[in-house]
Amino acid sequence: MARTMNFNPGPGALPLPALERARAEFLDFAGTGMSVMEHSHRNKVYEAVHDEALGLVRELLGVPAGYDVVFLQGGASMQFALLPMSFLPPGGSADHIVLGAWTEKAHAEAAAWAGVAGALARIAASTREGGYTRVPRPDEASLDDAAAYVHYASNETIHGVQYRELPTFGRAAQVCDMSSDIFSRKLDVSAFSLIYAGAQKNIGPSGVTVVIARHDFVEKGRRDLPKILQYRAHVGANSLLNTAPTFGIYIVRNVLDWLKGLGGLDAIERQNDAKAAALYAVIDAHPALYRCPVEPGSRSRMNAVFRLPSEGLEKAFLAEATRNGMVGLKGHRVIGGIRVSLYNAVEPAWVEALASFMKDFARRSG
Ligand SMILES: Cc1ncc(COP(=O)(O)O)c(C=O)c1O
Repeated sequence: MARTMNFNPGPGALPLPALERARAEFLDFAGTGMSVMEHSHRNKVYEAVHDEALGLVRELLGVPAGYDVVFLQGGASMQFALLPMSFLPPGGSADHIVLGAWTEKAHAEAAAWAGVAGALARIAASTREGGYTRVPRPDEASLDDAAAYVHYASNETIHGVQYRELPTFGRAAQVCDMSSDIFSRKLDVSAFSLIYAGAQKNIGPSGVTVVIARHDFVEKGRRDLPKILQYRAHVGANSLLNTAPTFGIYIVRNVLDWLKGLGGLDAIERQNDAKAAALYAVIDAHPALYRCPVEPGSRSRMNAVFRLPSEGLEKAFLAEATRNGMVGLKGHRVIGGIRVSLYNAVEPAWVEALASFMKDFARRSG
């Protein structure tokens, strides 16, 4: 079977070895005569997988002592709501750095809760006016050091902008949505109070959300919320407060174990840099046909966006790419154009194939 060259933005491509391992173990997990998803989430067989997956998150990211790691459900969007519910007290405020569609949504959810709680969700900086073609810098943000936290995203999946170096915005607790670039490069977890990511881009299937948080920050969370909405309850139960998404977490284990075998974050960062550089080089070499609207210093290594001179040409480009076995290249409906998602499992050979196709398409389009 030939693998489709999958450039989907999420759910995205998964590494073939992680899928093959799942296939091999599918009907008879660890000699138990049943699949992993048929096991109780409270038996030793599943618990070993669960703890291995949590341990791999810690090991690969170098999570320092004093930090909790949990797997939650509800996607990154659930975090947009849980964060203000937990950490935005009545009379308090949270600062938001808005750099694209997802941070806009995160701010909107915080503002909704702020209305209920009698608090404030401020926009401290936004690049909306320029069409989200670059990331806001800390020196242009009007920050409130008394804020309960400041929220930003490391990578905006739809607009294709990314912080090449992760900034610190003032002195408030730093909270970051890393849904679309976590595990794609080295990371200093200690700079953040809370990091979260939906799994479905670099970690595994949808249905699992990873949260990494300083324990003392978790302890600041509001205590009068239903238990299921409190981070501390999930931490206290080792992510087994209720039935965990066991099969999803099992696949996360397979994906992270694959990443470890590859050499971890150092190795994947080098590979991701090379893939992105190859793609942007083709875009920039054909300015009459391809145009990336994002300023060079903010270009995402995970989601490269570009336009062709007309929607007709974009349609033709997408149709031909599909005929050549490349899928998932259509830009998000909000901004149109082309988007190439270059997550960890997107193989360098696929990017080479796409780059050759783009050169060929440019030659034929005159
Ligand atoms: C940066 C970012 N944040 C949040 C989300 C929302 O994630 P979910 O669908 O898991 O709620 C996405 C989804 O693509 C995303 O890319």
